[in-house]
Amino acid sequence: MKPRETIAILDFGSQYSQLIARRVRENHVYSELLTPTTTPDQLRTLGAKGIILSGGPASAYGDGAPTCDAGIFELDIPVLAICYGMQVACKLLGGSVTASKTREYGRVRLRIERPEGVLAHLPAETSVWMSHGDIVSEIAEEFEPLAVTANCPIAAVRHRERPVFGVQFHPEVTHTPLGGQIIRNFLYDVCGCAGNWRVESVIKSTVADVRARVGERQRVICGLSGGVDSSVVAALLHRAIGDRLVCIFVNNGLLRNNEQELVEATFHGHFGMRLRVADARERFLSALAGVTDPQEKRRIIGHEFIQVFKAEATGIEDAHFLAQGTIYPDVIESGHGPTGHAAVIKSHHNVGALPAELGFELVEPLRLLFKDEVRQIGEALGLPEDMVWRHPFPGPGLAVRVSGEVTPARLELLRSADEILLEELTAAGWYRKVAQAFAVLVPIASVGVMGDGRSYEGQNLIVLRLVESSDFMTADWVHIDHELLATVSNRIINEVAGVNRVAYDISSKPPSTIEWE
Ligand code: XMP
Repeated sequence: MKPRETIAILDFGSQYSQLIARRVRENHVYSELLTPTTTPDQLRTLGAKGIILSGGPASAYGDGAPTCDAGIFELDIPVLAICYGMQVACKLLGGSVTASKTREYGRVRLRIERPEGVLAHLPAETSVWMSHGDIVSEIAEEFEPLAVTANCPIAAVRHRERPVFGVQFHPEVTHTPLGGQIIRNFLYDVCGCAGNWRVESVIKSTVADVRARVGERQRVICGLSGGVDSSVVAALLHRAIGDRLVCIFVNNGLLRNNEQELVEATFHGHFGMRLRVADARERFLSALAGVTDPQEKRRIIGHEFIQVFKAEATGIEDAHFLAQGTIYPDVIESGHGPTGHAAVIKSHHNVGALPAELGFELVEPLRLLFKDEVRQIGEALGLPEDMVWRHPFPGPGLAVRVSGEVTPARLELLRSADEILLEELTAAGWYRKVAQAFAVLVPIASVGVMGDGRSYEGQNLIVLRLVESSDFMTADWVHIDHELLATVSNRIINEVAGVNRVAYDISSKPPSTIEWE
């Protein structure tokens, strides 16, 4: 994919950097996160229409504080410098940064003295989101201040001759109500973008890229999991190369109810794709017999998956490529992104990744896309809504939600409880409002009243886990409607034999994790 207009975001490590990139793209301009050490030459070669300097956790006057090449301000490419980025820009160009006497965190009133450049079309007063302990205390002659707050005398600046702007606050967060206008001002008024990053053009260029890469004869294999990313990859590739795409779906016996049927109906039935279904339920379940350690379960499932996939894939002639649903946050987090630091937290979640020795070349058509863009593309390609909006489901499936030993009977029990939960959430309109929702079968017997006596036999505890999260690195439990909880609990206890108790998990991540194992 060769997007014509690019906004380069030099990432100083702000927790909001990805959000800046998404905000720019929501306004129809492609953006990329780059390391702050990106040189002026590289930015020129990239053809950047604009440069955004992100915020960051460092102090601009601290030892080893990240900075950028002052040459980027001479490129005549417009710059919007945010928070720490503004401090770096002002300091590099002759100003000073000091610790503020009063730190500003949260919502603050901004008085705009000169509504120009990125602050054009804004009222004289508005509220903005601040998060800083340092301030720009002095600016060079070439700069002029545009706005102030009670505790920050230089809250926004512009360069008198060059298209360089700085804001101490965060226009990218929703807590800055007019932040969207500021970003649009930068993209359209200051950078002169045309706004060509649209779903249709992304699909068109991705399809063209895939065709060019794969050629006229080769086949591509795509491992379908039923999740959003692999489904969109399959739909895109099918549009690009039609019958030369062969999808493989592995039923490992650890899926939710009707999963295989949904995948078959969608990809084979609706799209008419070539789909191979490997029924490996018995194989996985016998390999898992007697295993209770979660990491061991993951290891076994990962190992079996590779064997089954390999056996399915080897029979496919002329298949040199393997399509994968890698998306932009994966690229950033795996250390290929701006900071170069690999995220450790996700490293234990590699189940389902296929080793390089399978010998395929990778095709990763979603590599530059955020999840919300992947979903838009899925919708535009005609994938069913419940597939496009589904919650993430872990590679090891229900094995990590059946806490303790995984047996067919315990899986069946969990499936029934999980199905009730999802049915009720969907009916009440809650499914789309939460990031993940599932049931966990806990391996403790809890006392129940059977006839006149207390009985522990065959009685299980089901825990319901519902979380809100934007990146799954942190998560909060959902303050769900109590009536809805009552309905779900009632139905599970009445309809699922062997369950006499339902509990709701009210722990956040960290320190808890989203899954129980
Ligand atoms: P945790 O439990 O680490 O989960 O807070 C964060 C996200 O990762 C998913 N998850 C997994 N995904 N293989 C996967 O593909 C795994 O082994 C795995 N474990 C957790 C979890 O569902 C959540 O979305």
